[in-house]
Amino acid sequence: MDYLEFFHLQEDPFGLTPDSSYFYPSKMHNDVLASLDYAVDQKEGFSLVIGEPGTGKTTILKIFIDRWKEKAEIALIMTPRLSPEELLQAVLDDLKIILDTTNKNEMIKAFRDFLIDRSLAGKRVIIIVDEAQNLSDASLEELRLLSNLETEKEKLLQIILVGQPELQKRLQSEGMRQLDQRITIRTTLRPLTLQETSDYIAFRLVKAGKGSAILDEKVKKTIYKISGGIPRLVNLLTSRAMMVAYIGTAHHIQKKHVLDAAKHISNTQTRIISWQKLVGYAIVGLLIVSLIPVSVIMYHKIQDYRNTTIASTKSGMQSESPGNLAAVNTSLSAVKKDEPEQKVSSDIQRKAIVAVYAARLRERPSLQANIERVVTKGESLDITDEWTELSGNKWYKVKTPDGNESWIASYIVRVTSLRELPQPVVR
Ligand SMILES: Nc1ncnc2c1ncn2[C@@H]1O[C@H](COP(=O)(O)OP(=O)(O)OP(=O)(O)O)[C@@H](O)[C@H]1O
Ligand SMILES: [Mg+2]
Repeated sequence: MDYLEFFHLQEDPFGLTPDSSYFYPSKMHNDVLASLDYAVDQKEGFSLVIGEPGTGKTTILKIFIDRWKEKAEIALIMTPRLSPEELLQAVLDDLKIILDTTNKNEMIKAFRDFLIDRSLAGKRVIIIVDEAQNLSDASLEELRLLSNLETEKEKLLQIILVGQPELQKRLQSEGMRQLDQRITIRTTLRPLTLQETSDYIAFRLVKAGKGSAILDEKVKKTIYKISGGIPRLVNLLTSRAMMVAYIGTAHHIQKKHVLDAAKHISNTQTRIISWQKLVGYAIVGLLIVSLIPVSVIMYHKIQDYRNTTIASTKSGMQSESPGNLAAVNTSLSAVKKDEPEQKVSSDIQRKAIVAVYAARLRERPSLQANIERVVTKGESLDITDEWTELSGNKWYKVKTPDGNESWIASYIVRVTSLRELPQPVVR
């Protein structure tokens, strides 16, 4: 009796090849997919998806391509160790642009004609580069030049770069600035949480026919601890653990089976995870320590600025131009300190309800700031602060459901506060 028969499974639940029929829609995976949909929908130029090896980048691309294949022409480059000319040729081949010349000018002209033709037909053209960390600088530059092909009104081409964290570092280097500035959507695929890892294992088992293998929560926790929630490692560990159990004719997978399986998996992988965690913690620690003096200086600067503004207003020297007034940070904390009569308003939890189909949350209160995530219509976000730019644009600092804070422009949200809710009658 073989392994699958023993566990009454129809197929291997933990295969290592990305397979869209086994796609587990974790929040993180769904968020990345939503960002890519948004990027193509809104005709953004460049998008970037970063993730550690095995987190599911290629899997997501498969789902994304399935979703868009009817509405877009897609060139998928999986082996990007190509010269700029080879890359261009590979893109043309994938888009089925057949040419009997290898003259680069002719190739680019044909590509541009194709983009215009497809745009008139209402179709998007997307170039996706998987493993983009392997692109040479020259090939990245070639992609940047291709992305310049646009009409006066809109981008004709969407480019999605998918790669490991070193790609992000390269893009931030001095020589890559021009390309980096063109990236408007950036997302990072993080490992699964403990709960997601547990659901992921259960989900894959059900997909493969449910079977008779029993993995209780304690065992799943061990798998999570060793794998760090990275789907490829979860697959590897769970299937090995099931194999060890099968050899011992046990249907109940136990911790000892997982530990035994872990011995057979290259130690470097799990060690990499703990190192990454350690480095991560160290960076966060350093950032916190280094931010303390900066925050203190910023706080005093803001206080000085406010005092000067208030003083000059009192002495009648303050210009009434909205620009000058707007430059003052109207943060709730500042209101609390200087204007105690308004204190009550800071106790009211205000919420920003997204009023447009999809809205961008940004790292800073500026349209030029990096996009951290995309939220959809109707989502409700707690407002923790606000800021008005010199131009008069107002921004809200909001808390996302995952606990992070980002900025959203005021004109794409509706603000509600507890005051709007019916108050309980107190007798
Ligand atoms: N959301 C998911 N649902 C189901 N399986 C997943 C998911 N994410 C990852 N996997 C599985 O994890 C394994 C690794 O996924 P994938 O190859 O997509 O990762 P990757 O990030 O592209 O890795 P690499 O950087 O090495 O190319 C595959 O077996 C894939 O099926
Ligand atoms: Mg991959």
